[in-house]
Amino acid sequence: MTADRLPTDGGMEVTIVDDPDAAGRAVAATISATVRRSRSCRLGLATGSTPLPAYRVLVRELGGTGTLDHVEAFLLDEYVGLSPDDPASYRATIRRELTDALGLPPESVHGPDTQFRSDGRDGPGVGLLEACERYERLLGIGVDLQLLGIGRNGHLGFNEPGAPFDSTTHVVALSDTTRSDNARFFPSPADVPTHAITQGLGTIRRAQHLVLAATGAAKAPAIAAALEGPLDESCPASALRLHRRVTVVLDRDAASALS
Ligand code: GLP
Repeated sequence: MTADRLPTDGGMEVTIVDDPDAAGRAVAATISATVRRSRSCRLGLATGSTPLPAYRVLVRELGGTGTLDHVEAFLLDEYVGLSPDDPASYRATIRRELTDALGLPPESVHGPDTQFRSDGRDGPGVGLLEACERYERLLGIGVDLQLLGIGRNGHLGFNEPGAPFDSTTHVVALSDTTRSDNARFFPSPADVPTHAITQGLGTIRRAQHLVLAATGAAKAPAIAAALEGPLDESCPASALRLHRRVTVVLDRDAASALS
């Protein structure tokens, strides 16, 4: 594996490796170090395809060791309207891809409760707003490490372009780009939910350490905008540059539009 480390402003370190597997190994090593170092570890997890190589390494290295009693996992976001047992829900995905194999009990895996209906209404409404507030309280001062992927439009979690940098956990209407990018996880494009609950950019920025992973040429424009474009809400991921400790792991394709 070859890796270049580029100097950046502030607390950002950018590592560029050859391919998605190498990126997975680099991300897994960072997560592993945090898990092994802390007596009580709050880990923020992302879904999507990008983290999967890292999750495979973590399962190989940490699964079945029985040493993760001190770890609690927190989802970045969740679709509205899917039950936690729906295979396309992020809770089911993270259990299938990572936490069950690591031996983390389901009660140690937290996410926004998109089924929450304190007022008995369906769809985004008062119940969901209360669910957002509850999740925000649960996240409290923030997680120790938050893993992030990036959308082609620069989104983090489900914070679409225009999301305020100080936003907290909230309900979002998903953009057409995001819905079509995520249609591959559903039986048909029409099944992709229209709304989600996501940690806000302000919530994400409360994490002690942010780890952004991106692989593939399709992410190159978003990475260039996030790291080198205007620090602006039109690119939610540019908010990373406001954080004191960010690790960015890219493969060569995702880094290809950087100057
Ligand atoms: C979804 C998730 C994001 C993720 C993004 C990119 O929209 N909400 O958290 O970063 O997809 O996914 P992928 O890694 O599959 O490209």
